[in-house]
Amino acid sequence: MIQVTHTDLFSCVQLGPYRLPNRIVMAPMTRNRAGVGNVPTQLNATYYAQRATAGLIVTECTQVSPQGVGYPATPGIHSPEQIAGWRLVTDAVHNAGGKIFLQLWHTGRISHPSLQPDGALPVAPSAIAPTGNASTYTGSQPFVTPRALETEEIAGVIEQFRQGAKNALAAGFDGVEIHGAFGYIIDQFLQDGTNKRTDIYGGSIENRVRFLLEVTEVVCSVWGANRVGIKLSPSNTYNDVHDSDPQALFSYAIAALNTFGLGYLHLMEASPADIRHGGKPIPVCDFLPLYSGTLIANGGYDREKGDAAIASGVADLVSFGELFLANPDLPERLRLNAPLNQPDRNTFYGGDEKGYTDYPFLQSTTIE
Ligand SMILES: Cc1cc2nc3c(=O)[nH]c(=O)nc-3n(C[C@H](O)[C@H](O)[C@H](O)COP(=O)(O)O)c2cc1C
Repeated sequence: MIQVTHTDLFSCVQLGPYRLPNRIVMAPMTRNRAGVGNVPTQLNATYYAQRATAGLIVTECTQVSPQGVGYPATPGIHSPEQIAGWRLVTDAVHNAGGKIFLQLWHTGRISHPSLQPDGALPVAPSAIAPTGNASTYTGSQPFVTPRALETEEIAGVIEQFRQGAKNALAAGFDGVEIHGAFGYIIDQFLQDGTNKRTDIYGGSIENRVRFLLEVTEVVCSVWGANRVGIKLSPSNTYNDVHDSDPQALFSYAIAALNTFGLGYLHLMEASPADIRHGGKPIPVCDFLPLYSGTLIANGGYDREKGDAAIASGVADLVSFGELFLANPDLPERLRLNAPLNQPDRNTFYGGDEKGYTDYPFLQSTTIE
């Protein structure tokens, strides 16, 4: 007899050690609402707890060290106060029945001396300034040329990720996601537009992928590989990154990550902005033959597209960014095909509860 299995966004799924009640993931989203000292607050805890019906929440990207800071009011995971602040968040999400991973982040050259310890230059694989402006506490300021890391310093940056991973464990998270996307330090090492090194971290694809794999190794040593995810954006042009052969680069990286037994690989597909800026859209399905683990697809999904990706086996889970930002009860709304709140772009980054914890639920039941 042929057994027909029906899977859609609302079916259970195993992710690492966890049985998740649905395949709807809240994508990581920076909201610039951390408190003084880059410390998460009760307001942040309310925001995440409101969204605890996601199969999995991935937090906004979070600095692993003072050197990793690149924006105002973004949270860190490198001080006792920040660990205590995140504990408010993890407790609130767990009390609401959810699961939450912390996204580990180092901005590399996407920073500014005013955000760095002692006003130092940001560090990067190579001394190449991004085009555009840094976001600082005194408004936009042109990016500076970063300082290229010495070979002997790179192990220290990898250690920052290890410490961040350990601190995330102390803060009560269920796992961590390594931010390898969007032109931050890992992506800066990966892509040959930002990596002109001549040591073992530059040149060949194998060398440029080394930093990513070494970070993954140390983070897995803290958490066990099955509670570690990684996000990559193979078509990304955001933060002025580009590569001469992204298909070959990311195919190599993904095949190498396949050997770790990770909790998941999170892939963002090309956004309209990537396509406008000359990014080469690489569909997630191109990487399927290279990756046998759990895969989360991201980028412009709605219910119909999400169900189709899961039913066809292209993805195991789907993550939603803007839709989750604006709809705290997104899984329920998708299940009922109910109308969706529209995201207000004016309140994405910075501010207070407006546009953060005040998006309405379908019914009047909100988590305070
Ligand atoms: C306000 C906002 C902040 C974001 N911040 C992050 C972030 O901190 N880390 C990250 O990996 N992606 C970040 N993203 C990208 C989202 O995780 C996601 O990849 C993107 O929104 C595409 O998914 P969507 O079409 O479902 O919104 C952000 C997106 C938005 C809208």
